[in-house]
Amino acid sequence: MYILIPGGCGFIGSSLAIYLKNNIKNCKILSIDNLSRSTSLLNEKKISNYNIQNLKLNLASKKCLQYLKSLKIKIDLIIDCCSDPSVENSKIMPEYVFDCNLKSTLNLLEIAKINKSKIIYLSSSRVYSIHKINNLFSKVDYKNKLKKKIKINENFSTESPITLYGFTKLASEKLIQEYSYLYKIKYIINRFAVVSGYGQFGKQDQGFVSMWLWRHLNNIDINYNGYGGHGNQVRDILDISDLCNLIREQISKFHKIYDKVFNVGGGLKNSLSLRELSNYCEIITKNKVNIKGKTLNSNYDIRYFITDNSKIYKFYKWRVKKNLRIIISETYSSLIKNKKNLKKIL
Ligand SMILES: NC(=O)c1ccc[n+]([C@@H]2O[C@H](COP(=O)([O-])OP(=O)(O)OC[C@H]3O[C@@H](n4cnc5c(N)ncnc54)[C@H](O)[C@@H]3O)[C@@H](O)[C@H]2O)c1
Repeated sequence: MYILIPGGCGFIGSSLAIYLKNNIKNCKILSIDNLSRSTSLLNEKKISNYNIQNLKLNLASKKCLQYLKSLKIKIDLIIDCCSDPSVENSKIMPEYVFDCNLKSTLNLLEIAKINKSKIIYLSSSRVYSIHKINNLFSKVDYKNKLKKKIKINENFSTESPITLYGFTKLASEKLIQEYSYLYKIKYIINRFAVVSGYGQFGKQDQGFVSMWLWRHLNNIDINYNGYGGHGNQVRDILDISDLCNLIREQISKFHKIYDKVFNVGGGLKNSLSLRELSNYCEIITKNKVNIKGKTLNSNYDIRYFITDNSKIYKFYKWRVKKNLRIIISETYSSLIKNKKNLKKIL
Protein backbone atom coordinates (compact mmCIF):
# COMPACT_ATOMS: atom_id res chain seq x y z
CA MET A 1 0.00 0.00 0.00
CA TYR A 2 1.30 3.44 -0.97
CA ILE A 3 0.31 6.23 1.42
CA LEU A 4 0.83 9.95 0.81
CA ILE A 5 0.98 12.04 3.99
CA PRO A 6 0.73 15.77 3.27
CA GLY A 7 2.01 17.61 6.36
CA GLY A 8 4.09 14.52 7.17
CA CYS A 9 6.62 16.57 9.16
CA GLY A 10 4.05 18.04 11.52
CA PHE A 11 3.29 16.64 14.97
CA ILE A 12 0.46 14.34 13.85
CA GLY A 13 1.74 13.64 10.32
CA SER A 14 5.20 12.49 11.45
CA SER A 15 3.82 10.36 14.30
CA LEU A 16 1.35 8.72 11.94
CA ALA A 17 3.96 8.15 9.23
CA ILE A 18 6.23 6.25 11.63
CA TYR A 19 3.38 4.34 13.26
CA LEU A 20 1.88 3.17 9.95
CA LYS A 21 5.26 2.25 8.51
CA ASN A 22 5.89 0.06 11.58
CA ASN A 23 2.40 -1.43 11.77
CA ILE A 24 1.18 -2.06 8.20
CA LYS A 25 2.87 -4.75 6.15
CA ASN A 26 4.50 -3.57 2.90
CA CYS A 27 3.49 -0.02 3.57
CA LYS A 28 5.31 2.71 1.64
CA ILE A 29 4.97 6.27 2.80
CA LEU A 30 5.78 9.59 1.15
CA SER A 31 5.53 12.88 3.02
CA ILE A 32 5.06 16.28 1.42
CA ASP A 33 5.78 19.15 3.76
CA ASN A 34 7.26 22.59 3.11
CA LEU A 35 8.66 22.71 6.69
CA SER A 36 6.87 26.01 7.32
CA ARG A 37 6.43 25.17 10.98
CA SER A 38 9.62 25.79 12.92
CA THR A 39 9.61 22.34 14.57
CA SER A 40 8.98 20.41 11.33
CA LEU A 41 12.68 20.18 10.52
CA LEU A 42 13.20 18.07 13.66
CA ASN A 43 10.39 15.77 12.52
CA GLU A 44 11.83 15.51 9.02
CA LYS A 45 15.03 14.13 10.57
CA LYS A 46 12.95 11.76 12.73
CA ILE A 47 10.99 10.27 9.82
CA SER A 48 14.12 9.96 7.69
CA ASN A 49 15.47 7.56 10.37
CA TYR A 50 12.60 5.28 9.33
CA ASN A 51 13.39 5.64 5.62
CA ILE A 52 10.42 7.89 5.06
CA GLN A 53 11.16 10.54 2.46
CA ASN A 54 9.83 14.09 2.64
CA LEU A 55 9.47 16.28 -0.42
CA LYS A 56 9.79 19.92 0.53
CA LEU A 57 7.00 21.45 -1.55
CA ASN A 58 4.20 23.93 -0.96
CA LEU A 59 1.05 21.83 -1.28
CA ALA A 60 -0.96 24.83 -2.41
CA SER A 61 1.31 25.47 -5.39
CA LYS A 62 0.89 24.53 -9.04
CA LYS A 63 4.46 23.18 -8.97
CA CYS A 64 3.49 20.65 -6.31
CA LEU A 65 0.36 19.59 -8.19
CA GLN A 66 2.35 19.10 -11.37
CA TYR A 67 5.02 17.16 -9.52
CA LEU A 68 2.46 14.83 -7.95
CA LYS A 69 0.78 14.32 -11.31
CA SER A 70 4.12 13.29 -12.81
CA LEU A 71 4.84 10.66 -10.14
CA LYS A 72 5.02 7.15 -11.53
CA ILE A 73 3.45 5.55 -8.48
CA LYS A 74 -0.15 4.76 -7.68
CA ILE A 75 -1.16 6.47 -4.46
CA ASP A 76 -3.69 4.22 -2.69
CA LEU A 77 -4.43 6.50 0.25
CA ILE A 78 -3.95 10.16 1.15
CA ILE A 79 -3.99 11.10 4.84
CA ASP A 80 -4.27 14.89 4.83
CA CYS A 81 -2.40 16.29 7.85
CA CYS A 82 -1.37 19.56 6.18
CA SER A 83 -2.50 22.85 7.61
CA ASP A 84 -1.64 25.96 9.51
CA PRO A 85 -3.62 24.84 12.56
CA SER A 86 -3.68 28.17 14.37
CA VAL A 87 -7.07 29.87 14.76
CA GLU A 88 -5.38 33.17 15.63
CA ASN A 89 -3.22 33.04 12.46
CA SER A 90 -6.37 32.63 10.40
CA LYS A 91 -7.46 36.05 11.67
CA ILE A 92 -4.10 37.72 10.99
CA MET A 93 -3.21 36.15 7.62
CA PRO A 94 -6.33 34.60 6.10
CA GLU A 95 -4.95 34.27 2.57
CA TYR A 96 -1.96 32.25 3.77
CA VAL A 97 -4.16 30.01 5.94
CA PHE A 98 -6.62 29.49 3.06
CA ASP A 99 -3.71 28.29 0.91
CA CYS A 100 -2.31 25.91 3.53
CA ASN A 101 -5.69 24.53 4.59
CA LEU A 102 -8.02 24.73 1.61
CA LYS A 103 -6.09 25.15 -1.63
CA SER A 104 -3.86 22.27 -0.54
CA THR A 105 -6.94 20.05 -0.11
CA LEU A 106 -8.11 20.98 -3.61
CA ASN A 107 -4.74 19.98 -5.07
CA LEU A 108 -4.79 16.72 -3.15
CA LEU A 109 -8.27 15.91 -4.43
CA GLU A 110 -7.02 16.38 -8.00
CA ILE A 111 -4.37 13.77 -7.22
CA ALA A 112 -6.95 11.49 -5.59
CA LYS A 113 -9.09 11.81 -8.74
CA ILE A 114 -6.26 10.62 -11.00
CA ASN A 115 -5.05 7.84 -8.69
CA LYS A 116 -8.51 6.80 -7.45
CA SER A 117 -7.03 7.18 -3.98
CA LYS A 118 -9.02 7.02 -0.79
CA ILE A 119 -8.69 9.99 1.53
CA ILE A 120 -8.64 10.39 5.31
CA TYR A 121 -9.03 14.03 6.29
CA LEU A 122 -7.94 15.43 9.65
CA SER A 123 -10.61 17.96 10.40
CA SER A 124 -11.23 19.76 13.66
CA SER A 125 -13.75 20.33 16.41
CA ARG A 126 -13.43 24.02 15.49
CA VAL A 127 -15.99 23.50 12.72
CA TYR A 128 -18.69 23.94 15.39
CA SER A 129 -20.50 27.19 16.14
CA ILE A 130 -18.73 29.46 18.63
CA HIS A 131 -21.95 31.07 19.85
CA LYS A 132 -23.86 27.81 20.13
CA ILE A 133 -21.04 26.27 22.20
CA ASN A 134 -20.68 29.30 24.45
CA ASN A 135 -24.46 29.57 24.87
CA LEU A 136 -24.56 26.07 26.34
CA PHE A 137 -23.68 27.82 29.58
CA SER A 138 -24.51 31.00 31.36
CA LYS A 139 -21.76 32.36 33.64
CA VAL A 140 -23.69 31.19 36.68
CA ASP A 141 -24.40 27.61 35.76
CA TYR A 142 -21.12 26.93 33.94
CA LYS A 143 -19.66 24.72 36.67
CA ASN A 144 -22.90 22.86 37.37
CA LYS A 145 -23.52 22.20 33.70
CA LEU A 146 -20.07 20.66 33.46
CA LYS A 147 -21.21 18.12 35.98
CA LYS A 148 -24.14 17.36 33.69
CA LYS A 149 -21.61 16.04 31.17
CA ILE A 150 -22.55 17.90 28.01
CA LYS A 151 -20.79 16.24 25.10
CA ILE A 152 -20.76 17.50 21.52
CA ASN A 153 -21.66 15.16 18.69
CA GLU A 154 -21.52 15.38 14.88
CA ASN A 155 -25.01 16.94 14.64
CA PHE A 156 -24.02 20.02 16.62
CA SER A 157 -24.48 23.32 14.76
CA THR A 158 -21.76 24.51 12.36
CA GLU A 159 -23.45 27.90 12.07
CA SER A 160 -21.08 30.89 11.73
CA PRO A 161 -19.00 32.21 13.34
CA ILE A 162 -16.70 29.19 13.53
CA THR A 163 -13.36 31.06 13.05
CA LEU A 164 -11.67 31.44 9.67
CA TYR A 165 -9.58 28.38 10.54
CA GLY A 166 -12.77 26.39 11.21
CA PHE A 167 -14.18 27.70 7.95
CA THR A 168 -11.20 26.34 5.98
CA LYS A 169 -11.61 22.96 7.68
CA LEU A 170 -15.37 22.81 7.04
CA ALA A 171 -14.87 24.01 3.45
CA SER A 172 -12.25 21.28 2.94
CA GLU A 173 -14.76 18.72 4.23
CA LYS A 174 -17.33 20.01 1.72
CA LEU A 175 -14.77 19.92 -1.11
CA ILE A 176 -13.99 16.30 -0.30
CA GLN A 177 -17.69 15.43 -0.34
CA GLU A 178 -18.15 17.18 -3.72
CA TYR A 179 -15.23 15.26 -5.24
CA SER A 180 -16.55 12.07 -3.69
CA TYR A 181 -19.92 12.65 -5.37
CA LEU A 182 -18.35 13.44 -8.75
CA TYR A 183 -15.48 10.94 -8.86
CA LYS A 184 -16.45 8.25 -6.32
CA ILE A 185 -13.51 9.08 -4.06
CA LYS A 186 -14.01 7.24 -0.76
CA TYR A 187 -13.35 9.36 2.29
CA ILE A 188 -13.31 9.45 6.07
CA ILE A 189 -13.44 12.79 7.88
CA ASN A 190 -12.31 12.86 11.51
CA ARG A 191 -13.12 16.02 13.45
CA PHE A 192 -10.43 15.83 16.11
CA ALA A 193 -10.54 17.70 19.39
CA VAL A 194 -7.25 18.71 21.03
CA VAL A 195 -4.48 16.21 20.31
CA SER A 196 -1.35 15.99 22.42
CA GLY A 197 1.32 13.52 23.54
CA TYR A 198 4.85 12.44 22.77
CA GLY A 199 6.44 14.62 20.08
CA GLN A 200 4.25 17.69 20.42
CA PHE A 201 6.07 21.01 20.53
CA GLY A 202 3.20 23.48 20.83
CA LYS A 203 2.39 27.17 20.72
CA GLN A 204 -0.04 29.43 22.58
CA ASP A 205 -3.08 28.74 20.43
CA GLN A 206 -2.11 25.35 19.03
CA GLY A 207 -0.63 22.61 21.14
CA PHE A 208 -1.33 24.37 24.43
CA VAL A 209 -0.64 21.28 26.60
CA SER A 210 2.98 21.07 25.52
CA MET A 211 3.30 24.88 25.55
CA TRP A 212 2.06 24.91 29.16
CA LEU A 213 4.64 22.26 30.10
CA TRP A 214 7.39 24.08 28.22
CA ARG A 215 6.68 27.27 30.15
CA HIS A 216 6.76 25.43 33.47
CA LEU A 217 9.98 23.74 32.46
CA ASN A 218 11.62 27.06 31.56
CA ASN A 219 9.99 29.28 34.21
CA ILE A 220 8.10 31.43 31.72
CA ASP A 221 4.96 33.28 32.87
CA ILE A 222 1.52 32.10 31.73
CA ASN A 223 -1.74 33.98 31.19
CA TYR A 224 -5.26 32.76 31.62
CA ASN A 225 -6.85 34.74 28.80
CA GLY A 226 -10.53 35.58 28.73
CA TYR A 227 -13.71 34.36 30.40
CA GLY A 228 -12.85 36.33 33.54
CA GLY A 229 -9.21 35.26 33.49
CA HIS A 230 -9.80 32.33 35.87
CA GLY A 231 -8.52 29.54 33.61
CA ASN A 232 -11.86 27.74 33.62
CA GLN A 233 -11.95 26.97 29.89
CA VAL A 234 -12.33 23.23 29.40
CA ARG A 235 -11.04 20.92 26.65
CA ASP A 236 -10.76 17.17 26.15
CA ILE A 237 -7.36 15.80 25.20
CA LEU A 238 -6.64 12.88 22.88
CA ASP A 239 -3.30 11.11 22.88
CA ILE A 240 -1.42 10.78 19.61
CA SER A 241 -1.09 6.99 20.07
CA ASP A 242 -4.89 6.65 20.34
CA LEU A 243 -5.23 8.71 17.16
CA CYS A 244 -2.72 6.47 15.36
CA ASN A 245 -4.53 3.29 16.49
CA LEU A 246 -7.79 4.67 15.18
CA ILE A 247 -6.38 5.60 11.76
CA ARG A 248 -4.90 2.13 11.39
CA GLU A 249 -8.29 0.62 12.22
CA GLN A 250 -9.96 2.94 9.69
CA ILE A 251 -7.49 1.87 6.99
CA SER A 252 -8.12 -1.81 7.66
CA LYS A 253 -11.93 -1.35 7.55
CA PHE A 254 -12.03 1.14 4.67
CA HIS A 255 -13.68 -1.42 2.35
CA LYS A 256 -16.81 -1.41 4.53
CA ILE A 257 -16.77 1.88 6.47
CA TYR A 258 -16.35 4.99 4.33
CA ASP A 259 -17.97 8.34 3.38
CA LYS A 260 -18.51 9.16 7.04
CA VAL A 261 -17.82 12.09 9.37
CA PHE A 262 -16.75 11.37 12.95
CA ASN A 263 -16.06 13.38 16.08
CA VAL A 264 -12.98 12.04 17.86
CA GLY A 265 -11.57 13.30 21.14
CA GLY A 266 -10.34 12.47 24.59
CA GLY A 267 -13.92 12.57 25.91
CA LEU A 268 -15.19 13.36 29.35
CA LYS A 269 -12.60 11.36 31.31
CA ASN A 270 -9.76 13.15 29.51
CA SER A 271 -11.17 16.64 29.92
CA LEU A 272 -9.62 19.35 32.04
CA SER A 273 -9.61 23.09 32.64
CA LEU A 274 -6.54 25.30 32.20
CA ARG A 275 -6.30 25.55 36.00
CA GLU A 276 -6.23 21.78 36.29
CA LEU A 277 -3.58 21.65 33.57
CA SER A 278 -1.46 24.07 35.60
CA ASN A 279 -1.74 21.72 38.61
CA TYR A 280 -0.61 18.75 36.53
CA CYS A 281 2.31 20.78 35.17
CA GLU A 282 3.39 21.83 38.66
CA ILE A 283 3.41 18.23 39.84
CA ILE A 284 5.26 16.89 36.80
CA THR A 285 7.86 19.67 36.41
CA LYS A 286 8.08 20.49 40.15
CA ASN A 287 8.04 24.15 39.08
CA LYS A 288 5.50 26.87 39.81
CA VAL A 289 5.27 29.77 37.36
CA ASN A 290 3.55 33.16 37.63
CA ILE A 291 0.06 33.03 36.23
CA LYS A 292 -1.83 36.22 35.41
CA GLY A 293 -5.56 36.37 34.75
CA LYS A 294 -6.50 38.52 31.76
CA THR A 295 -10.15 39.32 31.28
CA LEU A 296 -9.94 40.23 27.59
CA ASN A 297 -11.55 37.45 25.51
CA SER A 298 -10.29 36.44 22.12
CA ASN A 299 -13.40 36.47 19.94
CA TYR A 300 -12.17 33.10 18.63
CA ASP A 301 -11.91 31.33 21.98
CA ILE A 302 -14.55 28.89 23.14
CA ARG A 303 -15.42 28.28 26.75
CA TYR A 304 -15.67 24.55 26.49
CA PHE A 305 -15.36 21.48 24.30
CA ILE A 306 -15.87 17.85 25.23
CA THR A 307 -16.29 15.29 22.46
CA ASP A 308 -19.10 12.80 22.20
CA ASN A 309 -17.29 9.69 20.93
CA SER A 310 -20.47 7.57 20.56
CA LYS A 311 -20.43 7.41 16.76
CA ILE A 312 -16.77 6.49 16.41
CA TYR A 313 -17.25 3.81 19.08
CA LYS A 314 -20.33 2.46 17.30
CA PHE A 315 -18.46 1.98 14.01
CA TYR A 316 -15.03 0.83 15.22
CA LYS A 317 -15.48 -0.13 18.88
CA TRP A 318 -12.61 2.34 19.33
CA ARG A 319 -12.00 3.76 22.78
CA VAL A 320 -9.48 6.14 24.29
CA LYS A 321 -6.76 4.18 26.11
CA LYS A 322 -4.32 6.79 27.41
CA ASN A 323 -5.41 8.90 30.35
CA LEU A 324 -4.55 12.52 31.02
CA ARG A 325 -1.75 11.86 33.50
CA ILE A 326 0.08 9.63 31.01
CA ILE A 327 -0.51 12.00 28.07
CA ILE A 328 0.90 14.95 30.00
CA SER A 329 3.93 13.07 31.33
CA GLU A 330 4.76 11.62 27.90
CA THR A 331 4.47 15.09 26.32
CA TYR A 332 6.84 16.29 29.03
CA SER A 333 9.41 13.58 28.39
CA SER A 334 9.57 14.45 24.67
CA LEU A 335 10.16 18.11 25.59
CA ILE A 336 12.98 17.09 27.92
CA LYS A 337 14.50 14.85 25.27
CA ASN A 338 14.51 17.67 22.69
CA LYS A 339 15.12 20.56 25.09
CA LYS A 340 18.43 21.66 23.56
CA ASN A 341 17.08 21.85 20.00
CA LEU A 342 13.75 23.34 21.06
CA LYS A 343 15.45 26.19 22.96
CA LYS A 344 16.62 27.53 19.59
CA ILE A 345 13.21 27.44 17.90
CA LEU A 346 10.35 27.66 20.39
N1 LIG B 1 -3.00 19.08 16.95
C1 LIG B 1 -4.28 19.21 17.23
O1 LIG B 1 -4.66 19.40 18.39
C2 LIG B 1 -5.32 19.09 16.13
C3 LIG B 1 -6.67 19.01 16.49
C4 LIG B 1 -7.63 18.90 15.48
C5 LIG B 1 -7.25 18.84 14.14
N2 LIG B 1 -5.93 18.92 13.82
C6 LIG B 1 -5.57 18.87 12.39
O2 LIG B 1 -4.57 17.87 12.22
C7 LIG B 1 -3.66 18.26 11.20
C8 LIG B 1 -2.24 18.17 11.71
O3 LIG B 1 -2.08 19.01 12.85
P1 LIG B 1 -0.69 19.12 13.62
O4 LIG B 1 -0.99 19.40 15.04
O5 LIG B 1 0.18 17.97 13.27
O6 LIG B 1 -0.11 20.46 12.96
P2 LIG B 1 1.41 20.82 12.61
O7 LIG B 1 1.47 22.29 12.44
O8 LIG B 1 2.34 20.19 13.58
O9 LIG B 1 1.62 20.11 11.19
C9 LIG B 1 1.18 20.66 9.98
C10 LIG B 1 2.31 20.48 8.95
O10 LIG B 1 1.85 20.98 7.70
C11 LIG B 1 2.94 21.65 7.07
N3 LIG B 1 2.39 22.62 6.12
C12 LIG B 1 1.61 23.70 6.40
N4 LIG B 1 1.29 24.34 5.28
C13 LIG B 1 1.87 23.67 4.25
C14 LIG B 1 1.89 23.84 2.83
N5 LIG B 1 1.25 24.84 2.23
N6 LIG B 1 2.59 22.94 2.08
C15 LIG B 1 3.24 21.91 2.67
N7 LIG B 1 3.25 21.69 4.01
C16 LIG B 1 2.57 22.56 4.78
C17 LIG B 1 3.73 22.30 8.20
O11 LIG B 1 5.07 22.56 7.86
C18 LIG B 1 3.59 21.24 9.31
O12 LIG B 1 4.71 20.36 9.32
C19 LIG B 1 -4.07 19.67 10.77
O13 LIG B 1 -4.84 19.57 9.58
C20 LIG B 1 -4.93 20.16 11.91
O14 LIG B 1 -5.93 21.06 11.43
C21 LIG B 1 -4.95 19.03 14.78
